[in-house]
Amino acid sequence: MEHIKVENLLVNYKTLEKFKRFKEYGNQELTMMEDLQNNIIENDSKSPFFGIYHGNNLIARMSLYEVNKKYDYYFEPPQDYLTIWKLEVLPDYQGRGYGKAMVDFAKGFKLPIKTSPRINSHGFWEKMGFVKAHYEMERDLGENPLIWLPDGVMEKS
Ligand code: COA
Repeated sequence: MEHIKVENLLVNYKTLEKFKRFKEYGNQELTMMEDLQNNIIENDSKSPFFGIYHGNNLIARMSLYEVNKKYDYYFEPPQDYLTIWKLEVLPDYQGRGYGKAMVDFAKGFKLPIKTSPRINSHGFWEKMGFVKAHYEMERDLGENPLIWLPDGVMEKS
């Protein structure tokens, strides 16, 4: 298979235009656009988004950010962990290993990971080794969080 490179996406008009092709486009992207227009953030600021380019096309993306262990309710002992949001591969490119490449990239940080997947992607997450978290934070209710544990980390009981 071709080499797949996952890269950090910079906030600029070009990236934000490419985001419009993804289904999970909403407030976060609109706020980034407004911040750019109002010079609150600079062109080419770092974003929490990572993605895969195929030529000039952004074909997969996810938001990945670190949560401080002060706010950890999932792991034992409390850990800094990563949250994956908005993992999405464009329809024409699904089923070719890009989703797995994104998750493997996140796992490479060797921190526990939490995600709250959409209903129809559970099979994918199961294959990636994610399990249902027992604890649900109040603000996550109904989100059915899934977690991935690196070696040596336990779920909080
Ligand atoms: N259910 C069960 N298994 C799935 C799956 C699903 N929905 N999606 C992928 N898989 C499996 C693949 O068969 C593959 O298994 P293999 O390693 O044994 O061959 C493995 O997970 C990795 O798949 P990959 O090609 O990396 O998946 P992807 O690039 O298509 O990314 C999603 C997966 C869910 C992120 C992507 O399809 C997506 O963004 N979908 C958006 C809409 C959605 O959620 N669709 C779900 C299907 S209707």
